[in-house]
Formats: sequence, C-alpha cells, structure tokens
Amino acid sequence: MKRHYPTASIEAADLLERRVEPHYAKTLTRLLAAHAVAEKLTAIGYQRALAAIDDPALAPTIKKNLAEEKKHARMVYRLLEELGMNEAQADRSMVKAAKSPSFAAPRRFAEDPANPLGLLMASLSLDVTGLLMIGVNYRESSYAPHARAAEIILDEEEDHDQFAAAALRDAAEGFGAERVNAALREWLPMAANFFGPAGSGFTFDCLRYGLKARDNGELAELYLTMIGRRVAQAGLIMPELTRRYPYALA
Ligand SMILES: [Fe+2]
Ligand SMILES: [Fe+2]
Repeated sequence: MKRHYPTASIEAADLLERRVEPHYAKTLTRLLAAHAVAEKLTAIGYQRALAAIDDPALAPTIKKNLAEEKKHARMVYRLLEELGMNEAQADRSMVKAAKSPSFAAPRRFAEDPANPLGLLMASLSLDVTGLLMIGVNYRESSYAPHARAAEIILDEEEDHDQFAAAALRDAAEGFGAERVNAALREWLPMAANFFGPAGSGFTFDCLRYGLKARDNGELAELYLTMIGRRVAQAGLIMPELTRRYPYALA
C-alpha cells in the first residue's frame, strides 16, 4: 500500500489550518483516542494491582510501570487536546469500541484486581503488544507529534517487556506449569485481539495516511510468533488459536 504522507511530515498546525484533507484528522483522532484509552486502562490496571498485590518484590516494578503508563496516557490525551478534543470527549468517542474484543485485555486488567500471575499475563498482553504497536506503527507515524510521543513511550515499554520476559521464565517454577498454561489459554486470545481486526476500513485509512505501518493481522501474527518462542523457552505450552480476529482458542 502506498503511503500518502511520509513519517513525521504533518504537524498539528497543518490540521488546524486545514492543509490536510479532513478525513486524515478524523482517522488520526480516532486512532489517538484508542491509544489514549488503552494506556489509561493499563494504568488503571497497574493502580489496582498495586493495591491488590502485597509482594515487596513486585511493588517497585508495579509502581514504576504505573507511573509510566499514566505518563503515556497523559501524553496521548495532550495530542488530542492540541486538536481540540478533551479527555472526556475522547473517552466518550471510544465507549463502543472499548466493548469490542480488541479492548478485552486492557478492560480485564482494569476491572479485575490482579494477582501476581494475572499481572504477568496483563504485562504479556498489554506491554508486549503495546511495544509492537508503538514500535512498528506509531514510531513511523506521518503525524509528527505521535511519532515523537512514540519514541518516548517506546523506551519505557522496552523495560516493561523485559519484565514480562523475565517473569515468564520464572513463572512455570513459581506458579506451576499447569496454572501458567491455563492463564495463557485465557489471556493470549485477548492479547492477540488487542491489535484489532485485520483489513478493516479504518486500518486501511490508517495505512494509506501513514498513521500505521502494518495491518493489525500482521502485527497479531508477529506477536503470537514472538510470544510462542518465549512460551516454549519457558517450557510452557502455547495455546492453539483460531486464525483470525476475533481470536479464540482453537
Ligand atoms: Fe504504555
Ligand atoms: Fe507498558
């Protein structure tokens, strides 16, 4: 697919002064609202995990991730504010989307207080997916403010990803392989769905405007391959999933 706008070629002023077609701004605000809500739900999940998990070994990581997720959410809401959409409006625009399978993982993390195994699953489902979405898609966004924010977020998500990788290696030993395998069966379909449906009209627009670099389906496959390798290395069993969104156990 040919991108109409190169990486970081558009600034807020270009949209406010209508130098770019109006549908670009519409597509961008929808994408930013989805990103902001995902960061916020992740922050809420870490907040609840901090209250629910009484483990001095985990507390510093939970606190650090919480502070960073809050910052990510704030950064993305700021981008929306520059375009004339406040946080409440952005959240309202996402009410319906937030009920779809693509938000099941962040919703679950935000709604159910995590135990340590749930925390690991949330991190595998939200931080590792976030790292891919941001590193592959948003870092190269044609919208320069989003590309700049992605660069900052990415640094921190890399730490979150390392935490998840290390924790998975210890999990089989700490929780027992059977429990971890059951948790993977529960969480990985939700995690793969976080990328959203493949080939949607919205993603087509994101691709042609250069707001995303890859289709959702490609990223979900990349994610499952990456996680599959880690799961196997940890001596765990990768659940078998159906082939496309909404992913489920096969
Ligand atoms: Fe984040
Ligand atoms: Fe994160």
